[in-house]
Amino acid sequence: MESFLLVSLLFLAITILPSTHGLDQSPKGVDKWFKKLPHAKVKMTKLHFYFHDTVTAKNPSAIQIAQANNTFQSPTLFGLVRMMDNPLTVKPEPNSKEIGRAQGIYGFASFEDIGLLMTLNLLFTDGKYNGSTLSILGHNQIFHEYREMPIVGGSGVFRLAQGVATAKTYSGDNTTQNAIVEYHVVLLHY
Ligand SMILES: *[C@@H]1O[C@H](CO)[C@@H](O)[C@H](O)[C@H]1NC(C)=O
Ligand SMILES: *[C@@H]1O[C@H](CO)[C@@H](O)[C@H](O)[C@H]1NC(C)=O
Ligand SMILES: *[C@@H]1O[C@H](CO)[C@@H](O)[C@H](O)[C@H]1NC(C)=O
Repeated sequence: MESFLLVSLLFLAITILPSTHGLDQSPKGVDKWFKKLPHAKVKMTKLHFYFHDTVTAKNPSAIQIAQANNTFQSPTLFGLVRMMDNPLTVKPEPNSKEIGRAQGIYGFASFEDIGLLMTLNLLFTDGKYNGSTLSILGHNQIFHEYREMPIVGGSGVFRLAQGVATAKTYSGDNTTQNAIVEYHVVLLHY
Protein backbone atom coordinates (compact mmCIF):
# COMPACT_ATOMS: atom_id res chain seq x y z
CA MET A 1 0.00 0.00 0.00
CA GLU A 2 2.77 2.38 1.00
CA SER A 3 4.88 1.62 -2.04
CA PHE A 4 1.79 2.07 -4.22
CA LEU A 5 1.32 5.50 -2.65
CA LEU A 6 4.99 6.32 -3.25
CA VAL A 7 4.75 5.28 -6.89
CA SER A 8 1.56 7.35 -7.30
CA LEU A 9 3.24 10.37 -5.72
CA LEU A 10 6.29 9.95 -7.96
CA PHE A 11 3.99 9.64 -10.95
CA LEU A 12 2.21 12.82 -9.88
CA ALA A 13 5.51 14.64 -9.34
CA ILE A 14 6.68 13.64 -12.82
CA THR A 15 3.44 14.45 -14.60
CA ILE A 16 2.76 17.82 -12.93
CA LEU A 17 5.73 19.65 -14.32
CA PRO A 18 4.14 22.11 -16.74
CA SER A 19 3.64 25.71 -15.68
CA THR A 20 1.90 28.75 -17.17
CA HIS A 21 5.36 29.87 -18.29
CA GLY A 22 5.58 27.99 -21.56
CA LEU A 23 1.79 27.54 -21.71
CA ASP A 24 0.45 29.34 -24.77
CA GLN A 25 -2.53 31.36 -23.55
CA SER A 26 -3.38 32.90 -26.93
CA PRO A 27 -6.63 31.72 -28.59
CA LYS A 28 -4.50 29.62 -30.98
CA GLY A 29 -2.64 28.08 -28.06
CA VAL A 30 -5.92 27.23 -26.34
CA ASP A 31 -7.25 25.63 -29.57
CA LYS A 32 -4.09 23.50 -29.82
CA TRP A 33 -4.44 22.46 -26.20
CA PHE A 34 -8.03 21.30 -26.84
CA LYS A 35 -6.97 19.36 -29.94
CA LYS A 36 -4.50 17.36 -27.85
CA LEU A 37 -7.07 16.76 -25.12
CA PRO A 38 -8.24 13.31 -26.35
CA HIS A 39 -4.69 12.03 -25.66
CA ALA A 40 -4.22 13.86 -22.37
CA LYS A 41 -4.16 11.97 -19.07
CA VAL A 42 -6.31 13.04 -16.16
CA LYS A 43 -4.16 14.08 -13.18
CA MET A 44 -5.09 14.35 -9.57
CA THR A 45 -3.60 17.27 -7.63
CA LYS A 46 -3.97 18.07 -3.94
CA LEU A 47 -3.51 21.54 -2.50
CA HIS A 48 -3.38 22.67 1.10
CA PHE A 49 -3.32 26.25 2.38
CA TYR A 50 -4.77 28.69 4.89
CA PHE A 51 -7.23 31.45 3.99
CA HIS A 52 -7.14 34.67 6.03
CA ASP A 53 -10.48 36.51 6.14
CA THR A 54 -9.86 39.79 7.96
CA VAL A 55 -13.00 41.86 8.44
CA THR A 56 -12.07 43.98 11.46
CA ALA A 57 -8.61 45.55 11.23
CA LYS A 58 -6.86 48.70 10.15
CA ASN A 59 -6.44 47.10 6.71
CA PRO A 60 -9.28 44.60 6.28
CA SER A 61 -9.06 42.11 3.40
CA ALA A 62 -12.84 41.53 3.26
CA ILE A 63 -15.06 44.59 3.00
CA GLN A 64 -18.82 44.94 3.17
CA ILE A 65 -20.21 46.06 -0.20
CA ALA A 66 -23.96 45.55 0.30
CA GLN A 67 -26.66 44.80 2.83
CA ALA A 68 -30.46 44.52 2.93
CA ASN A 69 -32.43 47.09 4.88
CA ASN A 70 -33.04 44.51 7.65
CA THR A 71 -29.70 42.64 7.55
CA PHE A 72 -28.75 43.74 11.05
CA GLN A 73 -32.12 42.65 12.50
CA SER A 74 -31.55 39.21 10.97
CA PRO A 75 -29.99 36.58 13.29
CA THR A 76 -28.29 35.11 10.20
CA LEU A 77 -27.19 38.50 8.76
CA PHE A 78 -29.25 37.71 5.67
CA GLY A 79 -28.31 39.97 2.77
CA LEU A 80 -24.85 41.01 3.95
CA VAL A 81 -22.34 40.86 1.10
CA ARG A 82 -18.57 41.26 1.30
CA MET A 83 -15.86 41.47 -1.37
CA MET A 84 -12.54 39.93 -0.41
CA ASP A 85 -8.95 39.79 -1.57
CA ASN A 86 -7.69 37.37 1.07
CA PRO A 87 -4.15 36.03 1.30
CA LEU A 88 -3.56 32.27 1.06
CA THR A 89 -0.58 31.03 3.05
CA VAL A 90 1.22 27.73 3.59
CA LYS A 91 0.86 27.84 7.39
CA PRO A 92 -1.84 29.28 9.65
CA GLU A 93 0.38 32.15 10.79
CA PRO A 94 -0.57 35.30 8.82
CA ASN A 95 3.12 36.09 8.17
CA SER A 96 3.87 32.63 6.75
CA LYS A 97 4.68 32.30 3.04
CA GLU A 98 1.92 33.57 0.73
CA ILE A 99 1.11 31.32 -2.24
CA GLY A 100 -1.95 33.09 -3.64
CA ARG A 101 -5.08 35.12 -3.07
CA ALA A 102 -8.78 34.35 -2.73
CA GLN A 103 -10.61 37.07 -4.65
CA GLY A 104 -14.37 37.23 -4.83
CA ILE A 105 -17.62 37.71 -3.04
CA TYR A 106 -19.40 36.01 -0.19
CA GLY A 107 -22.94 36.73 0.85
CA PHE A 108 -25.07 35.67 3.81
CA ALA A 109 -27.69 33.70 1.90
CA SER A 110 -29.63 31.71 4.51
CA PHE A 111 -32.61 32.59 6.74
CA GLU A 112 -32.09 29.39 8.78
CA ASP A 113 -28.44 29.53 9.85
CA ILE A 114 -25.21 31.26 8.93
CA GLY A 115 -24.83 29.95 5.39
CA LEU A 116 -22.72 31.77 2.83
CA LEU A 117 -22.85 31.82 -0.94
CA MET A 118 -19.17 31.73 -1.95
CA THR A 119 -18.17 32.90 -5.43
CA LEU A 120 -14.46 33.32 -5.69
CA ASN A 121 -11.30 32.71 -7.63
CA LEU A 122 -8.15 31.26 -6.12
CA LEU A 123 -5.21 32.96 -7.83
CA PHE A 124 -1.94 31.14 -7.35
CA THR A 125 1.23 33.22 -7.35
CA ASP A 126 3.92 30.72 -6.46
CA GLY A 127 5.98 27.98 -8.08
CA LYS A 128 4.49 25.74 -10.75
CA TYR A 129 0.95 27.05 -10.18
CA ASN A 130 1.96 30.72 -10.53
CA GLY A 131 -0.54 32.41 -12.85
CA SER A 132 -3.11 29.60 -12.68
CA THR A 133 -6.54 29.96 -11.09
CA LEU A 134 -9.36 27.85 -9.69
CA SER A 135 -12.98 28.95 -9.33
CA ILE A 136 -15.19 28.03 -6.38
CA LEU A 137 -18.98 28.29 -6.33
CA GLY A 138 -20.29 26.87 -3.11
CA HIS A 139 -22.35 26.84 0.04
CA ASN A 140 -20.45 27.50 3.25
CA GLN A 141 -22.02 26.93 6.67
CA ILE A 142 -19.16 28.53 8.54
CA PHE A 143 -20.03 27.06 11.96
CA HIS A 144 -19.97 23.48 10.68
CA GLU A 145 -16.71 21.57 11.07
CA TYR A 146 -16.21 20.67 7.39
CA ARG A 147 -17.66 22.65 4.49
CA GLU A 148 -17.45 21.06 1.09
CA MET A 149 -17.47 23.39 -1.90
CA PRO A 150 -17.27 22.55 -5.61
CA ILE A 151 -14.32 23.65 -7.73
CA VAL A 152 -16.16 24.45 -10.94
CA GLY A 153 -13.24 25.24 -13.23
CA GLY A 154 -9.78 26.65 -13.61
CA SER A 155 -7.23 28.30 -15.88
CA GLY A 156 -3.57 27.85 -16.75
CA VAL A 157 -2.34 24.46 -15.53
CA PHE A 158 -5.82 23.97 -14.08
CA ARG A 159 -7.76 24.27 -17.35
CA LEU A 160 -11.02 22.26 -17.15
CA ALA A 161 -10.33 21.39 -13.51
CA GLN A 162 -13.04 19.93 -11.36
CA GLY A 163 -12.75 19.13 -7.73
CA VAL A 164 -13.70 19.64 -4.15
CA ALA A 165 -12.48 22.20 -1.63
CA THR A 166 -12.93 21.36 2.03
CA ALA A 167 -12.85 24.26 4.46
CA LYS A 168 -12.32 23.92 8.22
CA THR A 169 -12.04 26.89 10.53
CA TYR A 170 -8.63 27.03 12.16
CA SER A 171 -9.45 30.06 14.30
CA GLY A 172 -12.36 32.46 14.34
CA ASP A 173 -13.66 35.32 16.44
CA ASN A 174 -17.40 36.04 16.58
CA THR A 175 -16.85 39.66 17.61
CA THR A 176 -14.34 40.74 14.98
CA GLN A 177 -15.59 38.13 12.45
CA ASN A 178 -11.95 37.56 11.52
CA ALA A 179 -11.15 33.95 10.66
CA ILE A 180 -8.31 31.74 9.51
CA VAL A 181 -9.63 28.81 7.52
CA GLU A 182 -7.76 25.67 6.50
CA TYR A 183 -8.44 24.51 2.93
CA HIS A 184 -7.80 21.11 1.40
CA VAL A 185 -8.41 20.96 -2.33
CA VAL A 186 -8.50 17.81 -4.48
CA LEU A 187 -8.63 18.29 -8.23
CA LEU A 188 -8.86 16.38 -11.45
CA HIS A 189 -7.34 18.20 -14.41
CA TYR A 190 -5.22 17.54 -17.49
C1 LIG B 1 -37.14 47.11 3.36
O1 LIG B 1 -37.27 46.70 2.01
C2 LIG B 1 -38.50 46.07 1.72
C3 LIG B 1 -38.45 45.51 0.30
O2 LIG B 1 -37.96 46.46 -0.60
C4 LIG B 1 -39.63 47.10 1.89
O3 LIG B 1 -40.87 46.47 1.63
C5 LIG B 1 -39.59 47.59 3.34
O4 LIG B 1 -40.55 48.61 3.51
C6 LIG B 1 -38.22 48.11 3.71
N1 LIG B 1 -38.19 48.40 5.15
C7 LIG B 1 -37.65 49.49 5.65
C8 LIG B 1 -37.65 49.60 7.16
O5 LIG B 1 -37.17 50.38 4.96
C1 LIG C 1 4.93 34.62 -10.81
O1 LIG C 1 4.74 35.07 -12.13
C2 LIG C 1 4.88 36.47 -12.27
C3 LIG C 1 4.46 36.84 -13.69
O2 LIG C 1 4.99 35.95 -14.61
C4 LIG C 1 6.31 36.88 -11.94
O3 LIG C 1 6.46 38.28 -12.05
C5 LIG C 1 6.61 36.45 -10.50
O4 LIG C 1 7.95 36.71 -10.19
C6 LIG C 1 6.32 34.96 -10.31
N1 LIG C 1 6.43 34.66 -8.88
C7 LIG C 1 7.04 33.59 -8.42
C8 LIG C 1 7.11 33.46 -6.94
O5 LIG C 1 7.51 32.73 -9.14
C1 LIG D 1 -19.83 31.87 17.65
O1 LIG D 1 -21.13 31.85 17.11
C2 LIG D 1 -21.59 30.54 16.74
C3 LIG D 1 -22.94 30.68 16.02
O2 LIG D 1 -23.81 31.48 16.73
C4 LIG D 1 -21.64 29.64 17.95
O3 LIG D 1 -22.04 28.34 17.57
C5 LIG D 1 -20.26 29.59 18.58
O4 LIG D 1 -20.30 28.85 19.77
C6 LIG D 1 -19.75 31.00 18.87
N1 LIG D 1 -18.37 30.90 19.34
C7 LIG D 1 -17.96 31.47 20.48
C8 LIG D 1 -16.51 31.28 20.79
O5 LIG D 1 -18.69 32.14 21.16
